[in-house]
Amino acid sequence: MVDNIKWHLGEIDKAAREELLGQQGMVLWFTGLSGSGKSTIAVEVEKKLYRRAKASYRLDGDNLRFGLNKDLGFTAEDREENIRRIGEVAALFADAGLITLASFISPYRAGREAARQAAGAENFKEIYVKASVEACAERDPKGLYEKAKKGEIENFTGISAPYEEPENPDLVVDTEKLSLEESVKLVLGLV
Ligand code: ADX
Repeated sequence: MVDNIKWHLGEIDKAAREELLGQQGMVLWFTGLSGSGKSTIAVEVEKKLYRRAKASYRLDGDNLRFGLNKDLGFTAEDREENIRRIGEVAALFADAGLITLASFISPYRAGREAARQAAGAENFKEIYVKASVEACAERDPKGLYEKAKKGEIENFTGISAPYEEPENPDLVVDTEKLSLEESVKLVLGLV
């Protein structure tokens, strides 16, 4: 697959772009169940960074499935490919010097680990947005847990598909215990 192609180095590198922007390009990777609060926290962190004149960009599960990943569903293979693409995209954004906020269920450890490798471990923070299935089903902001329990959605994470908890996350944000403000503060501590 990589026969007959060669990486072409430019003269402006990540360090140069970071100097221009006055920040470190990095990936803040939010993982957790649907309804755990990943997107809500990422949206708030993005606002805070903007106010601090930090250049960031948010990649979100639901949103990217409208475009880049609209050919993918929710089987294990499709999720693997979803996260593989996002991992690569997030790595490019971080290389561009941006603080990249990626919020995806990303249920498999291997996929998250590959995303870390793509960005470079020194540029990657795994944030486990933790809430139990029961709590997420209680919140059910999109009404999906109710549908999944009735069998109307296949392979629903936490109900009929697995979620592998992070073993060594850089940060755990327990949204059953913390307010949104407290959660955001913890995340900003990583930047
Ligand atoms: S991931 O597993 O491949 O990382 P991703 O974060 O892109 O998932 O998308 C998850 C979002 O898709 C959920 O927040 C929810 O709104 C929606 N969704 C639709 N079907 C499912 C399903 N079977 N399992 C989980 N989420 C689903």
